[in-house]
Amino acid sequence: MHSQIKNISMVKIQMVDLVGQYQKIKTEIDTAISEVVESAYFVGGPEIKDFQSDLEKYLGVKHVIPCANGTDALTIAMMAAELKPGDEVITSDFTFVATVEAIAMLKLTPVLVDVDPKTFNVDIKAIEKAITPNTKAIVPVHLYGMSADMDPIMALARKHNLVVIEDTAQATGADYFHSDGKKSKAGTIGDIGCTSFFPSKNLGCFGDGGALFTNDDRLAAMIRKIVNHGMDKRYYHDMVGVNSRLDTIQAAVLKVKLKYLDSYSEARQKAADYYDAAFKDVEVLTTPYRMANSSHVFHQYTLKLGEGLDQFEMQSFLNEKGVPGMIYYPVPLHLQKAYPDPRYKEGDFPITEKLCKSVISLPMHTEHTEETLKYITQSVIEYVNSKK
Ligand SMILES: Cc1ncc(COP(=O)(O)O)c(C=O)c1O
Repeated sequence: MHSQIKNISMVKIQMVDLVGQYQKIKTEIDTAISEVVESAYFVGGPEIKDFQSDLEKYLGVKHVIPCANGTDALTIAMMAAELKPGDEVITSDFTFVATVEAIAMLKLTPVLVDVDPKTFNVDIKAIEKAITPNTKAIVPVHLYGMSADMDPIMALARKHNLVVIEDTAQATGADYFHSDGKKSKAGTIGDIGCTSFFPSKNLGCFGDGGALFTNDDRLAAMIRKIVNHGMDKRYYHDMVGVNSRLDTIQAAVLKVKLKYLDSYSEARQKAADYYDAAFKDVEVLTTPYRMANSSHVFHQYTLKLGEGLDQFEMQSFLNEKGVPGMIYYPVPLHLQKAYPDPRYKEGDFPITEKLCKSVISLPMHTEHTEETLKYITQSVIEYVNSKK
C-alpha cells in the first residue's frame, strides 16, 4: 500500500519519549543522582523523606509510604487491610494484570466486573451486583489517567463495610471532583491508594518504584511495618512483612520530576486536545471520553475503533510508517490463561471483551511537537481512509 503522506525525516516517533523529557531537566537530575552517589546513602536517607513529604503535600494526603513498585503497593495494601484467603475482592476485568496478580498472590478471590463503555472504568452497578457476604474490598482502577467515579464507590463501600484500595498507577496527578464541590487527587479518596513510578508512568523514575497513600494513621503504621520486614524496631518482627523499598536514587529523581508533574499533565492534555480535534469528524474513531467529575491526565490516549477497522491491522499500518501504537489490553483478565476460573467464560463481560478487540493507544508523552502529532494523526486517518 502506497503512503499518501510523507514521513517526517529524522524524528523517531516514540510511544513515550523519556530521553527528550530527561534532556530538559538533565542538570537537575544529574545533580540529584550524584548527590546520592557521593553520600553513598543508597537505601533510606533524607531523599526518601523529602520526596515522601513533597508528594504528601502535592496530593493533599496524610501519609505517603514509598515501596519498590506498583504491584507490591497493591499486595501490601491488601496485607495491611488484613484480607484473608477466600475474601472476595471486586475489581475491573479491564486492567493491567498487576491488579489481579496481587489478589491472587494473597490467595484472595478476585471477583471481576465489567466496565462502563464510555469511561472504561468499573461499572458501579456491576460492583453492587457482585457484592456478597464474603466481599471485603473493592479495587477501582483509574484506567488510562481518568479517575473512576469515586463518590458512588465510596458510598457502596461504606454501606457494605468494604475496604477501598485505589489503583492509581495510571492516574497520578488526576483530580476528582466530589459531588459536594470538593476536589481530591486520585488515589487519596479510598482507604489506601497505590501507584507505580515505572519509567513510562506520568510520574516515573529511572527504574522500578511505587508508593501507597492513606489518610488513616493505623493503616499507615501497618504499611510502614509491612514494607520493612514486619518491623518497627530493628530485628523485632511483629508480623510477616516484605522487603519493598524505593531506592534512594529513584526518590532523588522523583523529587525533581514531581515539580514538573502538573506541567507534564498539561503537555499530555494538549497532545490529547490535538488528537481529539483531528479525529472529531472521523465517525469510526471514538476519542477518549472526559468525565465531568475527573480531570484526565492521559497516561494513554486510547481510541475505540468502529465497524470495518481492525486494531492489529491499524497497528501494523502505523508501524510501517514509523508510528508506534499499543493495544492495552488485548485479552480481558477473565480469559487470561494464568487465571482460569470456572465462574467465568467468554461472553460474561461483553463490554470489556469488545474493548479488548477495538482499542488502540497512540503515542502519548510530554514531548510531542505539532509536527509529530500532525504526522501521527494523518497516518491514522490514512489508515481509516484505506478501509473505505
Ligand atoms: C493499572 C496498573 N496497576 C498496577 C501496575 C503495576 O505497577 P508496577 O509495574 O510498578 O509493578 C501498573 C503498571 O503497569 C498498572 O498500569
